[in-house]
Amino acid sequence: MAIPEEIINEIKYRNDIESVMAPYIDLKRRGKNLVGLCPFHNEKTPSFTVYPENGSFYCFGCGVGGDVFSFVRQIENLDYIDAVKLLAERSGVTIPQDGYDDSMQKLKNTIYEINRETARFYHTYLMSPDGKWALDYLTGRGLSIDTIKHFGLGAAPDSWDSLIKHLKGLGYSIADMIQANVVGKSQRGTYYDRFRKRVMYPIINIRGKVIGFSGRAMPGEDKMGGKYVNTSDTPVYKKSENLFGMNFAKNHCDEQIILVEGNMDVITLHQAGFENAVAALGTSFTDDQAKLLSRYTKEIVLIMDSDAAGQKAARRAGEILQNTGLEIRVVVLPDGKDPDEYIKKQGAARFRALLDGAVSEIEYKLLTAVEGIDTSSSDGKLQYLSRAAVIIAESSDVMTRDLYIGKLSDKYGVSRTALESKINDIRKQKFKQREKREFDEILHPKFSKTDVNPEKRMYPAAVAAEETVIAILLQHPDFYETACERLKPHDMISVINRRIYKSLCECIAAGRHPDLSYFGEMLNQAEMGYLASLANSEKGDKNALIVLKDSIKVILDEGVRIKSSDTKNMSVDDWANNLQKIIDAKKKGK
Ligand code: UTP
Ligand code: MN
Repeated sequence: MAIPEEIINEIKYRNDIESVMAPYIDLKRRGKNLVGLCPFHNEKTPSFTVYPENGSFYCFGCGVGGDVFSFVRQIENLDYIDAVKLLAERSGVTIPQDGYDDSMQKLKNTIYEINRETARFYHTYLMSPDGKWALDYLTGRGLSIDTIKHFGLGAAPDSWDSLIKHLKGLGYSIADMIQANVVGKSQRGTYYDRFRKRVMYPIINIRGKVIGFSGRAMPGEDKMGGKYVNTSDTPVYKKSENLFGMNFAKNHCDEQIILVEGNMDVITLHQAGFENAVAALGTSFTDDQAKLLSRYTKEIVLIMDSDAAGQKAARRAGEILQNTGLEIRVVVLPDGKDPDEYIKKQGAARFRALLDGAVSEIEYKLLTAVEGIDTSSSDGKLQYLSRAAVIIAESSDVMTRDLYIGKLSDKYGVSRTALESKINDIRKQKFKQREKREFDEILHPKFSKTDVNPEKRMYPAAVAAEETVIAILLQHPDFYETACERLKPHDMISVINRRIYKSLCECIAAGRHPDLSYFGEMLNQAEMGYLASLANSEKGDKNALIVLKDSIKVILDEGVRIKSSDTKNMSVDDWANNLQKIIDAKKKGK
């Protein structure tokens, strides 16, 4: 069962789309609509459009769209129900408990509980006499008991089923343990504890809930399963969206967050007083993690190991972070050490000094660009200067560019104007490329209409007419009778439009005004964008009734034509293959 309609409407009414979007997007009025830079893809010219009239939005650049619920769902990475709940909370609406299907929410709650009990089990074991091997290991690595408790560290016993037994004793089902990913199922169909003989680091989200685990093997015992075994994605955990240590760092990061590679680095840093350190949980750094960081801080200090892999990872993180508008600085640790080892050998004060001396990202790039070039020759100098020009051109701040132009011209004895004009050329060229890319994005949106509706490639005329019918009915529900007399849902040729048209008819027949929120549960995000684009299209602006009748005729005629042709029985893939064959044959013929 769904959340009752009146409640959805009430929530929608109390959360006007402009004010919900305000903290995320800078919207400017354009006519009766608003436009801004799309938060879901990178762009420099606004194609994100908000239609206050019907409470919807659509981005012409990437194709995302929907209503206020779709927006919250996507920007906060929530599922539909959670987005509705969040907006309900924001506006003080209470959702009745028995009014909707909360099986997903129940499963999530069970997983949270299992995770919490599992973390407790591992921690208790670590602190017990049997867990001495693990406690010795952790204290041997310099962690105090306080730190171990603060992070809730634990240990998994050397056993295949002690966690299973423990959780069973608490009344949890095997199926739920598997969903939480603390238990695995073998090919023979037997169940086993996923983490065995490992020290355990619980992963805790910003709301303080245990969402997963990272388990480290004892030294020399990492052949089975690798040095770290981590929770795979579960209904409550997506590793690309979380950061280890963020639950603590979020309270100490107004100015700066330190991004390191390993969990152990985070723990040692926190113990040494750097409570703003986080790590990327074994994945390479992602856009979602960058987004999370940018909501909490102004500046990121990337700490890289000095090995090649570490530098590569940090460089990638730097690129992703560049799009967030955060300040980025870089610290390179000397001689192959990670922050954990560095602090233990050199102490917190020296680490602090390294942080204070962190160079800006641009300076770091200028320093490393010299690698492999002999700048004592004039060829080498020129080679270096053209690399440097590319790096400086990346900065959008004219003062920053001027500063480095000055430094380089002094150091290498070239004129400022020469360097400056070279950099300006590069910037002009880049600007052109970017314009072209943005233009391409508009022509080929992220959720392209043919992805959402693959049949559009097969039956372009029919599907375009279907889209018109849906657009007109969304805008003029009073034409419902004309439409439903002539066109039944099964007359619609494409599957998605049939689905949409069917519920659209049901909605209007039931006397409801069809707005996007009616489809919130039934459509996925890409489909919602598709519908938002129809709801706001201009198809119904002029002579809507005539256009509606004409479009219905096109659909019915096309239906007859398609039935009599053999493509009707082909799958989309077969059809595409077939078409490819025809094209290939034509090419050969020429
Ligand atoms: P490292 O190998 O640098 O480990 O991997 P570390 O953090 O320094 O750990 P210690 O000091 O040896 O105990 C860096 C990070 O990469 C992920 C983990 O998140 C780790 O913290 N990783 C590494 C994995 O997920 N799986 C692996 O097998 C290895
Ligand atoms: Mn390490």
